Amino acid sequence: MKLSISVVGTGRMGSALARALLQSGYRTTVWNRTKQKAEPLVALGATVAGSVLEAVNAAEIIIVNVSDYQASAVLRDDAVASAIRGKLIVELTSGTPHGAREAAEWVAEHGANYLDGAIMATPDFIGTDAGTILISGPRQAFDANEEMFRALGGNVQHVGEEPGRANALDSALLALMWGALFGALHAIAVSQAEEIDLGELARQWTATAPVVDGLVVDLIKRTNAGRFASDNETLSSISPHYGAFQHLLELMEARKIDRSVVNAYDAIFQRAIAAGHLHDDFAALSQFLGKSR
Ligand SMILES: NC(=O)c1ccc[n+]([C@@H]2O[C@H](COP(=O)([O-])OP(=O)(O)OC[C@H]3O[C@@H](n4cnc5c(N)ncnc54)[C@H](OP(=O)(O)O)[C@@H]3O)[C@@H](O)[C@H]2O)c1
Repeated sequence: MKLSISVVGTGRMGSALARALLQSGYRTTVWNRTKQKAEPLVALGATVAGSVLEAVNAAEIIIVNVSDYQASAVLRDDAVASAIRGKLIVELTSGTPHGAREAAEWVAEHGANYLDGAIMATPDFIGTDAGTILISGPRQAFDANEEMFRALGGNVQHVGEEPGRANALDSALLALMWGALFGALHAIAVSQAEEIDLGELARQWTATAPVVDGLVVDLIKRTNAGRFASDNETLSSISPHYGAFQHLLELMEARKIDRSVVNAYDAIFQRAIAAGHLHDDFAALSQFLGKSR
């Protein structure tokens, strides 16, 4: 017989998690601070708990998905803390690596198991083959419940024993995403200033994106290997990037487009060039931003 699961927090994401569990036949109890938001799940077979304690008592596995770790403090009540003993807490709320480590310690002190997850998907991907969730914490707790995780997404992966790992990867991947999205905002501003139709921009980006994907993967691999000097596999050294970047700065200056973000890029370029890396692989810039080998 399938385990009973409680979902604490039925906002957009928590509701999607609960729906996926119900669709896979799990007995699912839900709790939400604003009870009305949990009620549509009753029609799908969920039971609505009147309190967090009731939700914890109703299940072997408690999935938490609220807005942030401060809100997850709904578990930190004496009665709830006693009730979690022997159960598995799966914290799927977004947070920091430090927050996950601290929560893992608190849960362990109360005799329960803890897994922390980062959901790399919007609610419409939950319960589909393409749904990605990264999970960290004890491997054995993940393996023992793999079937339940597969109900949440076809691409749920255990990424390490250390509880903060999933949140750390989340932040790294979001940094990549925001780089792309803020890059898109700059591209839109340049296009609008130069009266380029935004449909044309979208078409040209679709054609260019695979080149950029290749550059990103190459940058990560070279940084991992510490191959910063240019060699015969270098796709591009810093020099041509910096030359083309000057064209962007000039255009943005002429068109009075906000340069605060690109000025920060310029500062990193300049630090690397001053240190003698102009003709090194673009990956050499990684030494001027963070920790590298
Ligand atoms: N939506 C996405 O695409 C997405 C993707 C990846 C990760 N996530 C993560 O999933 C989590 C939930 O996101 P969401 O999109 O579902 O947000 P949401 O629709 O705004 O839901 C937020 C949930 O948190 C609850 N909550 C907030 N403060 C609370 C408190 N002090 N005590 C108890 N409950 C509280 C809300 O309860 P009320 O209904 O009572 O306000 C609601 O259930 C976030 O950590 C988010 O970063 C979301």
